[in-house]
Amino acid sequence: MKRIIFATGNAHKLEEIRGILEDTGVPVVSMKEAGIDADIVEDGATFAENALIKARAVCEASGEAAMADDSGLVVDALGGQPGIYSSRWMGEDTSYHIKNAELIRLLDGVPEEKRTARFVCSIACVFPDGTVLSSEETYEGIIGYEERGENGFGYDPVFYLPDRGCYSAELSPEEKNRISHRGKALRAMRDKLIARGELKGET
Ligand code: IMP
Repeated sequence: MKRIIFATGNAHKLEEIRGILEDTGVPVVSMKEAGIDADIVEDGATFAENALIKARAVCEASGEAAMADDSGLVVDALGGQPGIYSSRWMGEDTSYHIKNAELIRLLDGVPEEKRTARFVCSIACVFPDGTVLSSEETYEGIIGYEERGENGFGYDPVFYLPDRGCYSAELSPEEKNRISHRGKALRAMRDKLIARGELKGET
């Protein structure tokens, strides 16, 4: 495989995937860099379906291997919300400070053992011959009682890690990458690509 087109406009995600595939000798390019301008409707019912929809659309538009991810926060006490609607929840333009404050409010009075939540990341890689590889991983924690930390993004300041005694936004980028849903799912995808003989490296 000569290169992988990653179906995202998000520079942060692109950097993460480049870092993880760095030693494999296969460059990762964005849709923009590949000159692909697909208008993709993410109307799947699950993270995995949405990742596949995006990767398939870019593979079809380019005729090359394409990878995509879909991720979000699942809160058990809210029946799994915001889930696949994580970025759109309460409106795309609403600040995460407001969204995080609303999560804390919605869980007011909910005891610690019922505040469980997880970030989920699903990744799909689609090849021109129709082959699909997928990986999905989670990052477990609870919804905290306040916002803390300056790192990360989105819901990280309200996502408390009981085992570590800190919030996700208090982890360094390297620490988060080691244990996060996206870091783990990307490494699992890398291993699958190596096992399929598409990339060099050790699993
Ligand atoms: P996506 O870009 O469509 O995958 O949407 C992911 C959304 O889920 C983001 O906009 C955030 O709201 C949330 N999210 C996913 N991963 C994380 C994370 O690592 N930290 C905080 N929020 C996240």
